[in-house]
Amino acid sequence: MQELSALVESARLDFAAAQNPAALEDAKARYMGKTGQVTMMMKQLGKLAPEERRQRGQEINQTKGQIEALLNARRDELAQAAMQAKLSQEAIDVTLPGRMSRAGGIHPVMRTWMRIEEIFRSIGFEVADGPEIESDWFSFTALNNPPNHPARSMQDTFYVDREDEEGRPMPLRPHTSPMQVRYARTHEAPIKVIAPGRTYRVDSDATHSPMFHQVEGLWIGDDVSFTDLKGVYSNFLRRFFETDDLVVRFRPSYFPFTEPSVEVDMMFTSGPRKGKWLEISGAGEVHPNVVRNYGLDPEQHIGFAFGSGLERLTMLRYGIDDLRLFFEGDLRFLRQFR
Ligand code: FA5
Ligand code: MG
Repeated sequence: MQELSALVESARLDFAAAQNPAALEDAKARYMGKTGQVTMMMKQLGKLAPEERRQRGQEINQTKGQIEALLNARRDELAQAAMQAKLSQEAIDVTLPGRMSRAGGIHPVMRTWMRIEEIFRSIGFEVADGPEIESDWFSFTALNNPPNHPARSMQDTFYVDREDEEGRPMPLRPHTSPMQVRYARTHEAPIKVIAPGRTYRVDSDATHSPMFHQVEGLWIGDDVSFTDLKGVYSNFLRRFFETDDLVVRFRPSYFPFTEPSVEVDMMFTSGPRKGKWLEISGAGEVHPNVVRNYGLDPEQHIGFAFGSGLERLTMLRYGIDDLRLFFEGDLRFLRQFR
């Protein structure tokens, strides 16, 4: 009997020492396994006289029951401990501030893009879209650029490592003007279209970015004149800025694809932004050679084109003096436009 209660005590200590389910199963095997101490005792029973065997058998069974009870108790304890550990690991600190999902907003330059589409659609212009990696022909030749024009050179234009159909290196379009030719060659006159999009130049300072946006405008009919350009463009600006308090200046300039050519500057005449000219656009009457490249007869078709900077328009609209802010992705800046 003494020997049996010592065995129960030893099992209790063994089980208590087991720190995880696997160790507990090992400990169990030492008592109940095939060669465990309880099992061995059972096997010895056969050697006893019948009377003794009954008595001894009952005692061993009782011992076995006690050991099983200890085992189950320890199993429960370990399961509880594992659950506690898991719970404390996954505990939620309810004092931490929540992670809110904030509503996004439209980028200020995209707002300008959308407003321009809306304004020009309302006066009958179509909206077109075209490739940013262009052929040399659409970028320059079709636009009446002489072979030695500076815009073609590596200093102004980015080139990608790819050749066009004529075997010439392909530029990232340095302006949206190729869209005049692409659109005019695939549509019937009269032509009334704008083409907003991304453009690229080797340029970088407070008012020039290597990637920027332009919108090309083209109106070709049988008598679309410089006066129409002045009217359409000035009215566009008044609608875009939602004010009549601005002046527009058409300053003589040169582009190979227009004649006469101008740069368009504007200035506010009241409010906090008043009193500073900023160039926003190039424009002019389309050169006869370019009209020919549209596939049209310059004796019958004439009109104007313009190409305006979307960042410049956005800067003027919101009073921003450094266009690099548009591309830095700083939320303190961008949130102001939500
Ligand atoms: C042109 O790109 C001509 N293709 C515009 C044109 C179209 C003239 C049709 C005649 C007929 P210019 O290089 O001036 O012209 O650029 C036009 C406008 O784009 C500028 O007035 C300016 O607002 C904007 N712009 C030019 N370079 C940058 C730049 N690096 N970063 C931001 N805006 C720019
Ligand atoms: Mg210019």
